[in-house]
Amino acid sequence: MSGIKLMGTGSALPAQEVTNFDLEKKVDTSDEWIVTRTGISSRHYCTGEENHLGLCTAAARRALESAGIGPEQIGVCLVATLTQDTMTPSTACVLQKELGMPEDTVCFDLNAACAGFVYGLHTAECLLAASVRKYALVIGCEVLSRITDFTDRSTCVLFGDGAGAAVVEWREDYPSLCAVMGSRGNREVLMIPGVNTGAASYIHMDGKEVFRFAVEVLPRCAKEVAAKAGIGLDQVDHFVFHQANQRILDFAIKKLRLDPEKCAGNIAHTGNTSAASVPILLDELVRSGQLHSGQKVLCAGFGGGLTWAGALLQLA
Ligand code: COA
Repeated sequence: MSGIKLMGTGSALPAQEVTNFDLEKKVDTSDEWIVTRTGISSRHYCTGEENHLGLCTAAARRALESAGIGPEQIGVCLVATLTQDTMTPSTACVLQKELGMPEDTVCFDLNAACAGFVYGLHTAECLLAASVRKYALVIGCEVLSRITDFTDRSTCVLFGDGAGAAVVEWREDYPSLCAVMGSRGNREVLMIPGVNTGAASYIHMDGKEVFRFAVEVLPRCAKEVAAKAGIGLDQVDHFVFHQANQRILDFAIKKLRLDPEKCAGNIAHTGNTSAASVPILLDELVRSGQLHSGQKVLCAGFGGGLTWAGALLQLA
């Protein structure tokens, strides 16, 4: 047996909270429509001096502090994102300098959209096995407000900005994440044009198709992780699912017959923060004292690519 455990978490949200009522002033929408269809009441947007790197750095510092780990102990630094400030250098490399991680730290950004953080956990688990230093910093960070088309009312109400970070430790006697990951290449359902296309980098989404995809893969992914770990879903202490839409979450909870008490959510005040949503929620559970040492958390994400990923994470 070998694997990783969660040693500490951190998160950061921009100061500005944008409520549905604020959006009503510039978009043809209503608080009632957004809450009923998505469960979202408000989200946070970066303003002024705030940026992607600032959110990442704040979340990372908090995670290191809560783990009691110094930057010099980190062997792997991964940032899951699709909204980094610069395509190169990667955010992970800039963060390496910012925090003072050693030069032989493996640093890169990864794009698996909203499944990115869980992809990152599994990648860290694999890389740490071969690393001299056995701690990794895995971050999910997005500034989606910068790629939101405010003339498209069916997408612009969903997304928010934020960052979440986790410090994990690899040991031979720690349990494997039993990660399950997948992808189904598709450009039509969820797409953001890149720098070479000449098109504005805005989120394009077929909401109904994304919904269908999500309710197909999320319950399946959760079941496959539990089966791989050789446990029943009733033995999981917490489910931390990507916060995309409360109706998707309710569907999965019902289909898997989960105890809603074990399925905390924060979409009401964060909106969908893509790769950041799972680690922000993890941090909220840790800081509110709901997640205890030794408990098992089944994390799962799904999104553009199309991608999905699930893993069973234990708090040290
Ligand atoms: N405010 C008010 N009305 C809106 C609106 C808004 N923000 N957005 C769309 N509408 C309207 C539509 O114009 C349509 O009106 P019509 O019937 O007069 O044509 C009506 O509401 C229904 O639109 P529809 O697109 O069918 O809504 P929906 O029930 O599919 O809900 C989503 C839209 C986006 C909330 C839903 O499809 C969804 O959540 N999909 C998943 C998205 C997601 O999670 N993406 C990220 C994955 S990582």
